[in-house]
Amino acid sequence: MGVARGLLLMSIPVLLVSLILAPYPKLVLGTWLGRWVEIGQALAKIFVFMVCVDVTRVHPQFDTLEYVTSEMRAASSSLTTADARLEKVINLVDDYGWNRGFLINVGDVKGQVLDQALRARRRDPQPLQLAVELGTFVGYGTLRMARVLNGSSTLITVDPSVMSYAIASSLYEQAGVRDQITMKKDFSYNTFRELKLQGKKIDALFIDHVKKFYLSDLKLALQLDLLAQNCVVVADNILSPGAPDYKSFMFSEEGRQLFKTEVHQLHVEYMPTWPDEVLVSTFLGAS
Ligand SMILES: C[S@@+](CC[C@H](N)C(=O)[O-])C[C@H]1O[C@@H](n2cnc3c(N)ncnc32)[C@H](O)[C@@H]1O
Repeated sequence: MGVARGLLLMSIPVLLVSLILAPYPKLVLGTWLGRWVEIGQALAKIFVFMVCVDVTRVHPQFDTLEYVTSEMRAASSSLTTADARLEKVINLVDDYGWNRGFLINVGDVKGQVLDQALRARRRDPQPLQLAVELGTFVGYGTLRMARVLNGSSTLITVDPSVMSYAIASSLYEQAGVRDQITMKKDFSYNTFRELKLQGKKIDALFIDHVKKFYLSDLKLALQLDLLAQNCVVVADNILSPGAPDYKSFMFSEEGRQLFKTEVHQLHVEYMPTWPDEVLVSTFLGAS
C-alpha cells in the first residue's frame, strides 16, 4: 500500500513536468486542454525568465541593450543631433565590449578598416548603391556602416537570430538610423538568392557570420553573379576564430584573378593581446 501511494505521489510531479515540456500540447491533448497547457507553459517560462533567471543580466546581447538604453536615456538631453545619437550608441557598445563584458562585434579597432574600405569604395566613380552585412549580432557593424553611408545607399543586414533582430532593431532606433537599414531575419544564402531574383548587385559586402560559411557564401555570390565590379568585400575574424580556407582562396590563382586583397593584421575585438586579421578584397570582375 505504502509503495503504491509513493508511486502515485511521484507520478504527480512527473505528469506536471511532462505537461509543461510537452512540445505540441494541442496535438496531444486536443484544442481545449491543449490551450490551457500552452498557457501554463507560457506562465512557467515567464516565471523562470523573469523571476529565477533574468535574461537581460545573463545574456551579453540583452545586457548590452540594457546598458545602451539606460545610458541613452540619461544622455538624451545632451544628444541634440542625429549624428550625436549614432555616435553615442556606437561608443556605448564599444564601452560595453571593453569594460563590461565581451561582445563579438567587429569592434572599434577592426571597425576602422571596415569604415575605410567603405569610404574608399564611396570615392569610386561608380556609386555605392547596395551594401550587405552578413551577421547582425547587436547591430554594431551595421551602425558603423550606416555612419559611413549616411543614407546614400541601401544597407541590408542579415542574421537568422530573432534575438539579434530584436536587439539590433532597438539599437538602430535609438541611434536614429532604423529607417536606413533593411533587416533580414534569415540566412545569408537565402538573402543572396532573394537579391539575385530582384536583379540586384552588391557594391560592398561585410562578411562576419559563421566562419565556415565565408568561402561557400562568397562562392555563392560569385556563382549568382551578385558582386558588382569594384565591390569591396571585407571579412572579419580571418585569424581568430579563423577562416583559413577563405584566405587561401583569396590568395590562390583563381582568387587573385577575381580579387585584389589586402590583409590587415590587428587584434580580436576588445582583446589587444589576441591577434586577428581583416581581409579587404576588391572584386575585379568576372574573368
Ligand atoms: C560575429 S557576429 C556578427 C557581428 C556584427 N557583424 C558586428 O560587427 O557587429 C555573427 C552573427 O552571425 C549570425 N549568423 C549565423 N549564421 C548566419 C548566416 N548563415 N547568415 C547570416 N548571419 C548568420 C549569428 O547569429 C551572429 O549574430
